[in-house]
Amino acid sequence: MVRALDAGMHVKIYSADLVGVDAYKVEVEVDVGGGLPGYHLVGLAATAVAEGRVRIRTALANTGLALPARKITVNLAPAEMRKDTTAFDLPVALGILAGLDLIPQSALDGVMAVGELALDGSIRPVRGVLSVAMLAREEGLGRLIVPNENAQEAALVSGLDVRRCTNLAQVVADLRGEADMPVPVLASAAAEPDRRAPDLVDVRGQEAAKRALEVAAAGGHNLLMIGPPGSGKSMLARRLASLLPPMTTQESLECTRIYSVAGLLGARRLIDRRPFRAPHHSVSMAGLVGGGPGPKPGELTLAHNGVLFLDEVLEFQRGTLESLRQPLEDGSITITRAKASVTFPARVMLVGAMNPCPCGHLGDPYRACVCSAAQVARYRSRLSGPLVDRVDIQIDVPRLSYDELAGERPDETSAQVRDRVAEARLRQVERFSGVVGPSRPLSNAQMGVADLEEFCRVGPKGHELLKQASSRLGLSARAVHRVLKVARTIADLDSDDRIGVAHLAEAISYRSLDWGGQSTGDEQRIWTGRRRAS
Ligand SMILES: Nc1ncnc2c1ncn2[C@@H]1O[C@H](COP(=O)(O)OP(=O)(O)OP(=O)(O)O)[C@@H](O)[C@H]1O
Ligand SMILES: [Mg+2]
Repeated sequence: MVRALDAGMHVKIYSADLVGVDAYKVEVEVDVGGGLPGYHLVGLAATAVAEGRVRIRTALANTGLALPARKITVNLAPAEMRKDTTAFDLPVALGILAGLDLIPQSALDGVMAVGELALDGSIRPVRGVLSVAMLAREEGLGRLIVPNENAQEAALVSGLDVRRCTNLAQVVADLRGEADMPVPVLASAAAEPDRRAPDLVDVRGQEAAKRALEVAAAGGHNLLMIGPPGSGKSMLARRLASLLPPMTTQESLECTRIYSVAGLLGARRLIDRRPFRAPHHSVSMAGLVGGGPGPKPGELTLAHNGVLFLDEVLEFQRGTLESLRQPLEDGSITITRAKASVTFPARVMLVGAMNPCPCGHLGDPYRACVCSAAQVARYRSRLSGPLVDRVDIQIDVPRLSYDELAGERPDETSAQVRDRVAEARLRQVERFSGVVGPSRPLSNAQMGVADLEEFCRVGPKGHELLKQASSRLGLSARAVHRVLKVARTIADLDSDDRIGVAHLAEAISYRSLDWGGQSTGDEQRIWTGRRRAS
């Protein structure tokens, strides 16, 4: 069925590329016609797409489908979006085959395909397939062809005919009506790892810190722990994950999309536990908040709906830390590029741990600090006042005495605390269920200013207490609002609909670290206050 050389055969198939965590539809048009033989690619294609030519030609040849000498033109629309993915290999190859009448053109109607070709004709996984599947359903497309390794995530989207393939020959056979491509079989969720997760029961003493951890988990509040070396800060933070409430289906899908786009889903089908990310302090700004070519999501976005733990927080580059300011407020991070900007989700609980001074013993009753006031000031200035202002709960984690360390094993496990946390979260979800729109909070920490007015009313005594604390501690407006949110959480843990004076007092205590003036947004005042404790 070879046509006249100059007739030209025009074929269309759908594919998709990513912007942030969203997929957008790309129309792959292929024209096979007369004229000088060659391969022409138009539509703002980056290197990864351009190099597809070699992969496609070789993969086709190794599948027994060598290309004749024809003029092949490939157009990727919309032309204004810069496309940088290997996922077009498969749809372009299919378009060429249909253009050569090696598969029926009608077989590509309403089909979306993604997949990278290997030289031997096998099909490699690509990033972001869950987002692609969501797009395909939204667009009402009949069929989605994905690499076998990506089939599980595609299958999370219902109401879509998903087919998985391991090599080109398999796809060709299906489209010719000779043999069907398999549908994905949803694997049952991966078995729980046997290893016991770190549990709060391992931590002796530190009752105040444990309580703060519980409050933070219950309301999704940011937390900063300050204490001498070896007092258990890292140990406590690593146990926070075991206290967090389960994720909703929606949250779980959001996380899965992110990990898929980042290429970190691996063999997992679904991210169903809240992420706990603990980047090393040498992390770059792009590594932390996202960036690089693509751009790719950073640790902040990978921690979405979970915890971003910055251990030894003062060791991070100051600029890197500062880049967290806006996202902590907005719950998302926007990376601006010359042509377009990309927004990634970034709703996290920020948890930091640090020593009070370079030697670590400022305020330690058992050991003298050897740092000068200037050293302490320089040390702390690495963490800016505005950043500290965004931390709802700031606590001292003092050194344990030997008796405390060797004392009775505590009897409360993470599971017990987690039950109380889950109950408090449930109250929050119910409370906010009436809020309409995309800004509906899921936890107290996510409340906006308008929500505060509605949900965080306090009585006259409460107002008096807040007023006093505000002037005594020099609280900024943001800090006062954050105190109110924490008080709301403490009341929720108490199953109390009203914020009482005791709830407020506890919330204020989390802002009362003796750093010589608090959270004014004025670095000088915050960070030079506390002197040697000797
Ligand atoms: N409250 C505690 N109960 C039981 N063990 C503890 C406790 N605090 C500290 N430890 C022991 O001390 C070790 C060090 O604790 P951890 O690493 O959490 O200290 P840190 O406060 O992070 O110190 P640094 O400031 O040096 O990072 C723990 O691994 C544990 O063995
Ligand atoms: Mg530590």
